[in-house]
Amino acid sequence: MKKIALLISMVCFVLTLSAKEYDVVTGLVIDEGIDDIKEHCNVCHPGRFIVVNGGGEKFWKYKIKVMQKGFGLWELDKETKKRILHYLSTNYAKKRHVGVEE
Ligand code: HEC
Repeated sequence: MKKIALLISMVCFVLTLSAKEYDVVTGLVIDEGIDDIKEHCNVCHPGRFIVVNGGGEKFWKYKIKVMQKGFGLWELDKETKKRILHYLSTNYAKKRHVGVEE
């Protein structure tokens, strides 16, 4: 009996995880930090362009640095950067086959 309960709760957990909602304007996953992404990243390249590639925190930290050094992204305060990094490395940790037009 216990096993079944465990199984059911696991299935529910997986279902909640996969039931992601997407922002209608950007096409990005709705999660904590999306407002920061919209404010600081989507100004220059709207939509899913930024997440055509993906990676862990290190990857995204590097990308933010590239944006700041080469493309004119301003300084982000510590909390904002943390939220952005967390958002990107949680939701876009892997390279996915996402089209920019999607
Ligand atoms: C001031 C403008 C500006 C801001 C703000 C900005 N970017 Fe960019 N970003 C660019 C430009 C310009 C390119 C190059 C576009 C191209 O290659 O056509 C680019 C390209 C990229 C790329 C793809 C190229 C690569 O090297 O993989 C990623 C990923 C990216 N930006 C992430 C971000 C993230 C994350 C943020 C927010 C923290 C951000 N950008 C904020 C201007 C900006």
